[in-house]
Amino acid sequence: MTPVGPARRLLVRDLAQLATPAGGDAPLRGRALAEVRVVENAYILVEDEAIVAAGPMAELPPSTPDVEELDGRGLTAVPGLVDCHTHPAFAGDRVDEFALRAGGATYEELHAAGGGILSTVRATRAAGEDAIRAVVERHRDWMLRHGTTTWEGKSGYGLDRDTELGSLRAVQAAGGVPTFLGAHAVPPEFDTAEAYLDFVLADVLPEAAVLAAAADVFVERGAFTVEEARRYLEACAAAGLDLRLHGDQFTELGAVGLAIELGARSIDHLEATGDDGVRVLAASDVTAVLLPVSGLFLARPMPPARALVDAGAAVALATDFNPGSAFSESLPLVCSLAATQLRLSPSEALNACTVNAAHVLGRARSVGRLAPGYRADIVLLDVTDWRHLAYHLGGDLVHTVVLGGDPRRIR
Ligand code: NIG
Ligand code: FE
Repeated sequence: MTPVGPARRLLVRDLAQLATPAGGDAPLRGRALAEVRVVENAYILVEDEAIVAAGPMAELPPSTPDVEELDGRGLTAVPGLVDCHTHPAFAGDRVDEFALRAGGATYEELHAAGGGILSTVRATRAAGEDAIRAVVERHRDWMLRHGTTTWEGKSGYGLDRDTELGSLRAVQAAGGVPTFLGAHAVPPEFDTAEAYLDFVLADVLPEAAVLAAAADVFVERGAFTVEEARRYLEACAAAGLDLRLHGDQFTELGAVGLAIELGARSIDHLEATGDDGVRVLAASDVTAVLLPVSGLFLARPMPPARALVDAGAAVALATDFNPGSAFSESLPLVCSLAATQLRLSPSEALNACTVNAAHVLGRARSVGRLAPGYRADIVLLDVTDWRHLAYHLGGDLVHTVVLGGDPRRIR
């Protein structure tokens, strides 16, 4: 719709600092991943939903009439964070399993015993679409409180027609970017992965392809083999979807090679990836999406983040928010884990969960930077040095989120 009447203007003024990814086109790789432009004593000028100018207060254009002012004193602006990997469409929780794991049971044992993903599938199927919509909105609000303004949301806890499509509709209705994770696990009503894929490709994909932007598959022992994943992903690509993979989470089965062969947007997890995988990924256009909350939450190895960045791979960071392996919606926590566990710098962490994550979602020209022409998604942190985003482990720094030009006070 064309906006009617004069533009709505917002001036965020007297910011202690503004920090935004520098460098050229996304994805940022190698040294460019560490380039952040920092402006002290800064302003951001917004018209309707877009940033029209940003820079030092000394260069603020002469006053514009009808401008709403937001006092940025003592605050630091970073781009709205981009979470390119979440599983928000689930009902119930897995707190019982969490307690069992705390007592020594492993995630893989619980999965093999019919718990894990399949227990959330049972709860999500039983909930119905209205309840799924409500829970996705709730999870979206949790993310916003942590500064996430653009987010991807996967299906994958339905694995039947109605619940998969309902999950994609729920993500879309809540403002997320939907991904069809139709190959997350083989549901109990099918004897084999092949039989399940026959069903999902014939009966769910045609409508899922209209709702979703991408398709995703879990390549792992007990989930899908590389061959099964190839079949699923090729059909999804033919239906017009971008491709994503969960690969090398526990076992290196060849998902990296498949991602490169099929020209996937990303391969996510990579906790088990060895030197060869790092090398071939670095030479490819596939973004490595690293999910350090998952390694922490399952007390498992962390992915080879430093090696990937040093080798020149395109690296993004995300939460993997889900009820089983990563129950956290906080990208600031992910930045802290990146700096303390993955040996990435705060700058690399910021760029990996803004501009590079936006690239994974095909949105790097509209979100992930504080610069003219970008959507006015801005996080104001209650600190005077942006690096506290990573430094304050589990901190509660988000003061205000500007969402498409609309300021919302968080605390
Ligand atoms: O990315 N690994 C597969 N899928 C999710 C976990 C899903 C679950 O445990 O419910 C993940 O970690
Ligand atoms: Fe995941």
